Amino acid sequence: MRARIAHLVMEDSIEVILQDQVLPSSRPHPVFSACTGALLAGLYGVWSLFVLPGFRKIPWKLKVPYLPSSKEQTLNAMKLLEGRTGRLADLGSGDGRLVFAASSAGFQCTGFEINSILVALARSRARWTGVPSTRAAFVKSDFWKTDLSAYNNVTAFLAPGVMEALAEKLLAELPDGARVVACRFPFPRWPHQASAGAGLDQTFAYDIGAVRSHLRRVPSAAC
Ligand SMILES: C[S@@+](CC[C@H](N)C(=O)[O-])C[C@H]1O[C@@H](n2cnc3c(N)ncnc32)[C@H](O)[C@@H]1O
Repeated sequence: MRARIAHLVMEDSIEVILQDQVLPSSRPHPVFSACTGALLAGLYGVWSLFVLPGFRKIPWKLKVPYLPSSKEQTLNAMKLLEGRTGRLADLGSGDGRLVFAASSAGFQCTGFEINSILVALARSRARWTGVPSTRAAFVKSDFWKTDLSAYNNVTAFLAPGVMEALAEKLLAELPDGARVVACRFPFPRWPHQASAGAGLDQTFAYDIGAVRSHLRRVPSAAC
C-alpha cells in the first residue's frame, strides 16, 4: 500500500515538473505582457497622431487616412504631367512628397492637407530644402470645402470610396483645360486619357474637357 502511494506521489510530481519546466506554459510572462501592451499603445499613439488630427469634422464616408505614396507612384504621376505647366493642387498632400516633385518640375503648387502635423512636416521640409512658398505652399484645409477653379492641374491619392464624390466636385469646378491625375484609384465613370505604371503604383490621367465631352455623349455615365 505504502509503495503504491509513493508511486502515485511520484507520478504527480513528474507531471508538475513537466508542466512547469519541460513544457512551456501557455501564459506569457507578466513583464513580457506589460512591454507588449506598452509598445502597442505607443504605436497606436504615434499612428493616431499622424492620421487623426482634423478628421472629426469630415463626414465618415469622405474620410481618407494617411498613407504615403511610393517613389514609383510619384514618378508615375509626374510622367502624366509631362509637358504641362501652371498651377497644381495636390488634394491631401501628406508630407508633401508629390508637391515637391511637381514644384521641381516647374509647377506652382499648393498642397491641401487636413492633418496639421503633416502640414507642419511638409512646411519644415520646404524650409529645410529652400523651396519658396511661391512654388510649394501647404495649406491646412479641407479640400472638399476649397474652390479648385483656379487650378489647371490636380493630383489626388485618396481612396476608392471618395472618387465618385470627387469626380462631381472636379467637374463642377475645374476649367476645360485642366488635367487630373488620380493615383492608384481611378475615377469609376471617367475614361482616362493615359495611365502610367501598374498595380498599386498605377496612375491615371484625365483631361476635363475630354471627360465632359464623353459624359455629354454617354449621359448614363454621369450618374
Ligand atoms: C493616401 S494619403 C496621400 C498622402 C500624399 N498625397 C502622398 O501621396 O503621400 C491621403 C491624405 O489626404 C489627407 N486628407 C484626407 N481628407 C482630407 C481632406 N478632406 N482635406 C485635406 N486633406 C485630406 C489625409 O490626411 C492624408 O494625408
